[in-house]
Amino acid sequence: MMSKSLPVVILLAMIHISVTNAATKPNVIVVVADDLGYTDVGFHGGDQIPTPNIDWLAKNGIILDRYYTAKICTPSRASLLTGRHPMQLGLQSSVIFPSLPYGLGLNETLLPQYLKKSGYSTHMVGKWHLGMFTRNYTPTYRGFDSHFGFWSDKTDYFSHENSGSVAASSNAIGLDLWENMTVASQYNGSYGTELFGKRAVDLILKHDQSKPFFLYLAHQAVHNGISPQPLKAPQEYLDKFSFITHDGRRRYAAMLSVLDDTIGNLTSALISSGMYENTLLIFTTDNGGPVDGFSMNYASNWPLRGCKATNWEGGVRGAAFIHSRLLKNPRTTSHHLMHISDWLPTIMSAIGEKLPTDIDYYGVDQWPTLQYDVASPRKEVIHNYYGGLGAIQYGDYKLIKCCMTSMNGWYPEQKYVPTNQNPYISCGERNSSLPACTKDKPCLFDIQSDPCEYNNIASLKPELSKWLLEKLEAFADAAQPPRNKPSDPAAFPSLHNNHWTDWLDPEPVE
Ligand SMILES: *[C@@H]1O[C@H](CO)[C@@H](O)[C@H](O)[C@H]1NC(C)=O
Ligand SMILES: *[C@@H]1O[C@H](CO)[C@@H](O)[C@H](O)[C@H]1NC(C)=O
Ligand SMILES: *[C@@H]1O[C@H](CO)[C@@H](O)[C@H](O)[C@H]1NC(C)=O
Ligand SMILES: *[C@@H]1O[C@H](CO)[C@@H](O)[C@H](O)[C@H]1NC(C)=O
Ligand SMILES: *[C@@H]1O[C@H](CO)[C@@H](O)[C@H](O)[C@H]1NC(C)=O
Repeated sequence: MMSKSLPVVILLAMIHISVTNAATKPNVIVVVADDLGYTDVGFHGGDQIPTPNIDWLAKNGIILDRYYTAKICTPSRASLLTGRHPMQLGLQSSVIFPSLPYGLGLNETLLPQYLKKSGYSTHMVGKWHLGMFTRNYTPTYRGFDSHFGFWSDKTDYFSHENSGSVAASSNAIGLDLWENMTVASQYNGSYGTELFGKRAVDLILKHDQSKPFFLYLAHQAVHNGISPQPLKAPQEYLDKFSFITHDGRRRYAAMLSVLDDTIGNLTSALISSGMYENTLLIFTTDNGGPVDGFSMNYASNWPLRGCKATNWEGGVRGAAFIHSRLLKNPRTTSHHLMHISDWLPTIMSAIGEKLPTDIDYYGVDQWPTLQYDVASPRKEVIHNYYGGLGAIQYGDYKLIKCCMTSMNGWYPEQKYVPTNQNPYISCGERNSSLPACTKDKPCLFDIQSDPCEYNNIASLKPELSKWLLEKLEAFADAAQPPRNKPSDPAAFPSLHNNHWTDWLDPEPVE
């Protein structure tokens, strides 16, 4: 009755309002690159491997200059999706190989769970790596409406098999590719990065825009596949880089170039679907690049010290940016300290949602900092502290307890990258009268003036060094004990139709 008497224009406006109300929340897309070197992207001065699509988004968004991830994969992804510190999650030690029966605690709430509550469609494409021994640890049980990708740490780019890595025996090879809870065996021969890139495009184009859209696109590029096989890429991409004579580097370049093309396709899909105007697009690596053949890989973090798996800048200072038409400061670089755990509170703030107050987040809301360039609420980043190795950054300073037996230098020298220049990082001078950093004592660096970690000034600032070490130790004392469990041979694919599965469930997917 009421509606009959309302003028048509108002009715139309009401329909319009209800539609736009549902759609006003920005779409959120988080793209994770795996093992991307700091200097390999054009927006950080890399000039060997063109990354035009990534660079366009970065340069027309906000490049995050002092942005830190964890040094390896599982802790980084866990932190990104929970807003918590890996040490609060019991994920401070190593990563979850596919036969290990543990995962990110089920009492943690993940970003897609928050977003689902706020009305989002939630999709995941790509690598999970947060636990898979029972199904309640896998993506579609943790807030994602859909998942296309793999559960473990890495797979071959063409066969989509994982060899089980160090914790499994050499015969533990099996498929790890899933459409939700179904084994996806029909993609043998299709290149992983292209598969995931195309699925992301499909999801965007098919999205019902009456709901806001969340996509967690965790690419496998540019991680290696099955060790010790060389890096793999489609032949036409390898051909594109025939000018690079170093075989491993050429393969790496080809892998990155495919990744960049998929980002171009993703951007086109956002624009053609009309979703671009109301989307926050976040791009981050999960950790620094593995160099010089580490993990069969040939990334470059030059001139940053160390690489993936170290607490040196080359392991934790990540390539990242945010791109959105909703940014008030596009085409800028933010020099504010930021940690990967900050994305969850930042995204929630950006979409106008509150966080529960009973969870001890390590992440802080960086949205006002990104929007208005006001001081960042973050003063410190604790990188990790486990097994005698750790680091904490506070203001300009970084205290590090090093060192692993290798990967403490600067890579790759000039072995496979023709230029040693990264215009983005200015190293400063080496002071040879200062003591080298060794594992005997914690070392201190002024990261602002010495981002390349040349000069160990611990002996010049003993009080500060002591204070930082105490902070690091206090955080470690409050940490959740490592959740790690030993490898379980019952997981091996030879027992499960040659694929990896949720092997400890009463009825695993067979
Ligand atoms: C995965 O689940 C989503 C949500 O239920 C559904 O739309 C999609 O069709 C499923 N994919 C497959 C391949 O079953
Ligand atoms: C994938 O295809 C290759 C080549 O055809 C074949 O050798 C291999 O066994 C296949 N792998 C799987 C897991 O089906
Ligand atoms: C990008 O999209 C084009 C057009 O659909 C497609 O041919 C190409 O394979 C895509 N590139 C990648 C790397 O997926
Ligand atoms: C080098 O370190 C010494 C302390 O060992 C200090 O006295 C000196 O000022 C430093 N030189 C420069 C150029 O900073
Ligand atoms: C989940 O439980 C573990 C202990 O089992 C605890 O350390 C952690 O803080 C809990 N997480 C939350 C969000 O309360």
